[in-house]
Amino acid sequence: MENIKIIFADDDIVARKLVLKLLSDLDFNILIAENGNEAWNLFRASGARIVVTDWEMPGLSGIDLCHKIRKNDVDSYTYIILITSRGEKEDTIEGLKAGADDFLVKPLNVGELRARIRTGLRIIKLEDQYKKASTQLLQSEKMASVGQLAAGVAHEINNPTGFVSSNLKSLAEYHKDIHGLIARYRNLSEMIKKKTPQDCGKDVMVEIEDIKAYEKAIDLDYVIKDIDDLMKESGEGLERIKKIVMDLKDFAHPGEETMQEADINVCIESTLNVIWNEIKYKAVVKKEFGVLPELVCYPQQLNQVFMNMLLNSAQAIQNPMGEIVITTDFVPSGIRIRIRDNGCGIEKKNQSRIYDPFFTTKEVGKGTGLGMNVVYNIIKKHKGSIEFWSEPGTGTEFTIVLPVRKME
Ligand SMILES: Nc1ncnc2c1ncn2[C@@H]1O[C@H](COP(=O)(O)OP(=O)(O)OP(=O)(O)O)[C@@H](O)[C@H]1O
Ligand SMILES: [Mg+2]
Repeated sequence: MENIKIIFADDDIVARKLVLKLLSDLDFNILIAENGNEAWNLFRASGARIVVTDWEMPGLSGIDLCHKIRKNDVDSYTYIILITSRGEKEDTIEGLKAGADDFLVKPLNVGELRARIRTGLRIIKLEDQYKKASTQLLQSEKMASVGQLAAGVAHEINNPTGFVSSNLKSLAEYHKDIHGLIARYRNLSEMIKKKTPQDCGKDVMVEIEDIKAYEKAIDLDYVIKDIDDLMKESGEGLERIKKIVMDLKDFAHPGEETMQEADINVCIESTLNVIWNEIKYKAVVKKEFGVLPELVCYPQQLNQVFMNMLLNSAQAIQNPMGEIVITTDFVPSGIRIRIRDNGCGIEKKNQSRIYDPFFTTKEVGKGTGLGMNVVYNIIKKHKGSIEFWSEPGTGTEFTIVLPVRKME
């Protein structure tokens, strides 16, 4: 609950000074407003969680301020204490209707003021915990139903992908053989062509000419080259399908791999090697690696975390040659990994959704929207934390902290 801001609004300078003095020893940021309008502006700019306001003020009154705060659509709860000089029951009702949580009667008593603020803090804390718990619950419900579907789909795709993949390898081999054979036939026909019709018969010459015409009609040189390209592309398509299947599987039930000691810097290096092709034309990668202790973890899963995040960074970069900075260090709470890019950033309205399964802003066929969900679950499994900062047009920075301790 650190960094809690409290707004105190009163048009009476004596009251303002008194409050500043009385509360100066508390560990909060106290913002002082001389009237209702100023308090409102301060509230919007500061994200204060507690507002203590005088009832009667010129311009916007304490009651008006309550109304405005309650109408304002913010995620977190604001605790409002109204100061009244009368303390009549009717006033209390009006205040409650406007959305006040508590009342103080003038003249202010320091003990009482502190006690009310403490109550406010307790309520805010409970509100925050409740919010967090209910979002987590919602998230896990969503996951359970989508997870079953995902597991089914992954299984269904996996089998055909397997045989297409092995068929494609055989096809590539056969193609090489047939290509070699065609080259030999071509040599032979060139040799025969150089003979006279008397040497090898007219019908052979006609056949040779016919073969040549046919080669031309089907554009044999193009076909041979195109078969190579088609196979290469199909191979890349299959790789993509494999990644999707892998994500879907991890999404459904995160891997059964055993825990091992690993060096996170090495994990990041090896992930970078695997996806280097996807990154090298998009961004310069800067590595600022600190000295890290070994981490007991699921290294393959962490590799997948880094892969998904680095791919997102590369995909977010639109200009040729952006920058991705990967920083690792050891902080009191664990191993910290930061991945920063100067890509397109994440729009405010999407920021709460990036961990949702299947949420993607990428065009159809480009993203499944599972990457960050998988990341989230793997980090959770490691009892770590993940947060991000992002500014559209400027870039994004993710920070992961993985505690260095034994897991169950
Ligand atoms: N570094 C980033 N910069 C900008 N946007 C990002 C970044 N990382 C994530 N996002 C946003 O979060 C969304 C969800 O990311 P996620 O990795 O889950 O899915 P995806 O990349 O769209 O698809 P895939 O499942 O193939 O990874 C992205 O579509 C994008 O809008
Ligand atoms: Mg992604």
